[in-house]
Amino acid sequence: MDWRDHMAREVRGEVQRDVPLAPRISVRVGGSAILFIRPVGIEDLITALRIAKESGQPIWVLGGGANTVVGDGGIPGVTLKLPAWPTLEKVIDLGDRVRAELPAGAPSARLVQLAREFGLLGVEWAAGIPGTIGGLTAMNAGTRSGEMKDNVTEILLCDGTGAEWCPASEVQFRYRHADLKSKVVAAVRCELRKGDPAQVEKSVSAMETDRAYRRKSQPLQLPNSGSVFRNPPGDHAGRLIEAAGLKGLVEGGAQISEQHANFIVNRGGATARDVVTLMAKAQHAVQERFAIPLALEVRTVGVFVPSTDILGLKV
Ligand code: EPU
Repeated sequence: MDWRDHMAREVRGEVQRDVPLAPRISVRVGGSAILFIRPVGIEDLITALRIAKESGQPIWVLGGGANTVVGDGGIPGVTLKLPAWPTLEKVIDLGDRVRAELPAGAPSARLVQLAREFGLLGVEWAAGIPGTIGGLTAMNAGTRSGEMKDNVTEILLCDGTGAEWCPASEVQFRYRHADLKSKVVAAVRCELRKGDPAQVEKSVSAMETDRAYRRKSQPLQLPNSGSVFRNPPGDHAGRLIEAAGLKGLVEGGAQISEQHANFIVNRGGATARDVVTLMAKAQHAVQERFAIPLALEVRTVGVFVPSTDILGLKV
């Protein structure tokens, strides 16, 4: 039996062939998923992972699509989209703190909502960061004021054999990266500290300030994929790309934002090729001009035509 028919028969949930992904990723470019799966529960996720492994098919977990560029040739194998399974959400008030278990598919804004509801501190950084809880964890998302690893205590990791809670201390987190050993995040547990009213007010106002700063400094009104490059030690990718003279550069329907040079925006009709070409040009120019290698923060997924190699992008 074709592996896709096998999936459709065994996995409960949405199992669909040839699903266009551009509408599901924030920069709105790229081709289709060969097979797109939204499993109804964790057992179905495990089954999908098992069948994919047995059939030699790669797996890609699409989070909120906020930090991803899908190639114009689409994504082979399985593209997973995890719903915000309500059975995996538990919030326990422990007096001075709150233990929150959140499904990977929940929007990252859920953390900020909890902070507001219970007067919690330490998640100010998450205000206005798009995406899902699973995505925040898998890439250890964050800003100058904090990152996901500071909040997570345990991660429910899945593969084709089952699911297991893993202490966050056993996961290697780095700047915008978590080493999950090819497993899929199904849920996370966070311990969040309550503050006194003055601290909470300060924290809420820090969140608002951060949001306002981003609205002012980033081109959030156009489709984009967030910060394209990681900041190199002691500097900022946006500053370097601007200093290399590339701010505003256009390729097809894409542009290096005039507002923030570490953002690439889709001005309408951009292809993944346009976006990746601009990334390659920025990387190349900063290397030539300042001898600084810029590493991608955005994830490139699927088949690029021509390949990212040929387009000159180091991924
Ligand atoms: N800058 C320029 N030219 C530009 C853009 C920025 O000179 O075109 C300069 C700014 O003037 C500033 C410095 O570069 O002095 C840093 O810029 P900014 O404050 O915008 O911060 P960033 O380092 O570019 C980081 C995160 C963002 C987060 C902001 C605000 C990374 C790679 N990016 O950006 O995160 O929103 O701080 O907290 O860490 C994301 O990760 O997707 C993201 C948007």
